[in-house]
Amino acid sequence: MKAKIINNLKEIDSGKVKEEILEGLTSQSRYISPKYFYNAGGSQLFEAITELEEYYLTRTEKAILSGIGNSLEIDFTDLNIVELGSGDPSKIRLLLQQIPSEKLSTIHYYPVDISHTAMENSMDQLTEEFPEIEVTGIVADFMQQFKSLPKINNRLFCFLGSTIGNFQPKELVTFMRNLGSEMEAGDHLLLGLDMVKDSRVIHRAYNDSQQVTAAFNKNILNVVNGIVDTSFDATDFEHLAFYNEKKQRVEMHLKAVRDRKIRINGNQATMDIKKGDTIHTENSYKFSRRDIETIGMHAGLKPDSVFTDEKKWFSLVLYSKSD
Ligand code: SAH
Ligand code: AVI
Repeated sequence: MKAKIINNLKEIDSGKVKEEILEGLTSQSRYISPKYFYNAGGSQLFEAITELEEYYLTRTEKAILSGIGNSLEIDFTDLNIVELGSGDPSKIRLLLQQIPSEKLSTIHYYPVDISHTAMENSMDQLTEEFPEIEVTGIVADFMQQFKSLPKINNRLFCFLGSTIGNFQPKELVTFMRNLGSEMEAGDHLLLGLDMVKDSRVIHRAYNDSQQVTAAFNKNILNVVNGIVDTSFDATDFEHLAFYNEKKQRVEMHLKAVRDRKIRINGNQATMDIKKGDTIHTENSYKFSRRDIETIGMHAGLKPDSVFTDEKKWFSLVLYSKSD
């Protein structure tokens, strides 16, 4: 098996990254982009979340994925699988296991992720399990670096886990437009969407009893400390997650449990956080049947098939690009 990693993150201006984070922290309603969750520790915590009983998303999507190989109207010969926000290999493994063995050696897999550590771990596992597949890992920010995606024919883009639900509505439109102009006739997109359901089920998924989600949420402060040299102490905050029914989204925040003066950029500036102040760290939008069409329309894609579970909690949608 041939495997290599291309790191495109070096091309992102680190000054801009710092500016973006500080802009969020100093804006009236403080926020941090969820893309900063995924340092080595954050990626591990996310993997632990996916194994929680309360977090139904992963096991539901995996169950659907395990049974769709024969129903995907895709020619697997010489297929280039581009998985956006790939994380660990547990989902792509399920898809690869369903591809006839004689076709596996013609497949090229391109995982794309912002986390270098997650990419390395994932590639190590895949090279062992599927020695016949060629793998090129692309470490990149898929919001800014669409140009780093491979320009080739016969691509199946996979965007699983309902990671699209972590975009702001405007980001979702921009992302889908970018993807639509990137895709050529004959390319496909397999998109995972977490669907609207009983709000109690959703609430539990983001408020687990072992507080793994709380640890994941708080870890973002360690990431921020490392990038902009702030003095956040995660123990000064509590995890706050609730389902906002009107907006069809889970909101995650960090809520200060005491007053604190936070140093920014070493000692260059300070910021006062008062007890009860919040920092918005993530939205996780939930989708309806109608959203499936709308999301595709932004990219000029039409849904060919929608695969779902018995309870209709999660959807895997196969879109295609026609001329
Ligand atoms: N696809 C996996 C992982 C989902 S977690 C699953 O379904 O379980 C979200 C993944 O997207 C993480 O691995 C994270 O590192 C990656 N990610 C988040 N923001 C990103 C960005 N802007 N660019 C590239 N990858 C990103
Ligand atoms: C990656 N993403 C789809 C997860 C979600 O459910 O929104 C991230 C997560 N946040 C809290 N738990 C899991």
